[in-house]
Amino acid sequence: MENEIIKEKKPVVLSAIQPTSIPTIGNYLGALKNWKNMSEDNDCLFAVADLHALTVHPEPAKLRQQIYEMYATLLALGLDPEKNIVFIQSMVPAHAELAWILDCYTMFGEAQRMTQFKDKSQKHADNVNVGLFAYPVLMAADILLYQADYVPVGADQKQHLEIARDIADRFNNLRGQTFKLPEPYIGKIGAKVMSLQDPTQKMSKSDTNPRASVFLFDSPDLIMKKFKSAVTDSEAKVRYADGKDGINNLMSIYSGCTGLGFDEIEREFEGKGYGDFKVRVAEAVIEEIRPVRENFERIMKDKAYLLETAEQGAQRAGRIAYRTLQKAKKKVGLIVDR
Ligand code: TRP
Repeated sequence: MENEIIKEKKPVVLSAIQPTSIPTIGNYLGALKNWKNMSEDNDCLFAVADLHALTVHPEPAKLRQQIYEMYATLLALGLDPEKNIVFIQSMVPAHAELAWILDCYTMFGEAQRMTQFKDKSQKHADNVNVGLFAYPVLMAADILLYQADYVPVGADQKQHLEIARDIADRFNNLRGQTFKLPEPYIGKIGAKVMSLQDPTQKMSKSDTNPRASVFLFDSPDLIMKKFKSAVTDSEAKVRYADGKDGINNLMSIYSGCTGLGFDEIEREFEGKGYGDFKVRVAEAVIEEIRPVRENFERIMKDKAYLLETAEQGAQRAGRIAYRTLQKAKKKVGLIVDR
């Protein structure tokens, strides 16, 4: 009888997303859609990484709006804020505090080797700030504060997870066991969605071509228009093959929304033209994201609920984070017994 009460401890999974513009269907099918499934079997924390967004100097009013929107998006996905901890990074001061301590346990050379830092400093040579350099250390703090077992990361963040492990390992070796070393979360692999206008490139939030990316809260009409103008090829046959990047991409998107395999999709569109196919893909996308959009619109109208939920999320996250922070402060010799 008593055994029934003892709950087995579930793995801790931490995920975070920057509040830069509304996610694309690429972000959704590739990652966000899986967050909901993940939250069933794990103790999940989901964060809006707003401090990370400061590295690119966003316009303040716009950033504030984007933080609200991203937090509302997380709730709109159906991530239950009672079962999971859904929070905004800057509302938990321990992140910035631990980041400083970890800065002192991160070597200049290893931070300098981060590919994303190198790419970003090349692309934005006019704004290579120290925050951009220390970005992976803040990310390490996000993860280590919660003693996370797993972090779901895409290819572009893998190196950042590795440096988080290296930093944790160095700290543990020098100061005694303090942080759990996080592992990458290997879940169901989401679809990799490419640009609708240049299907050799990943679909990006910041593409300057307005038809290249479909955003989660685009209107159904706009989604239809974007898919109708998607780049394809001249074979006029819906099949998955090398060199058919545009069609392969539309097939992946369709598969991501419907769960159908490529062979089933080929059969469904046997003898049909690309026009029909594009319309069906657009319809499938519209249907797939409709509930998320409806939730989002409802939540955005209720600022009081949004703020209250964010406040509760921050308090719950903060309690866990504080324990780890105190431990780390003590280990490095700071005064914690006050
Ligand atoms: N840097 C991540 C990105 O841009 C976002 C992020 C911040 C993150 N902190 C994190 C991801 C902690 C995982 C864990 O995608």
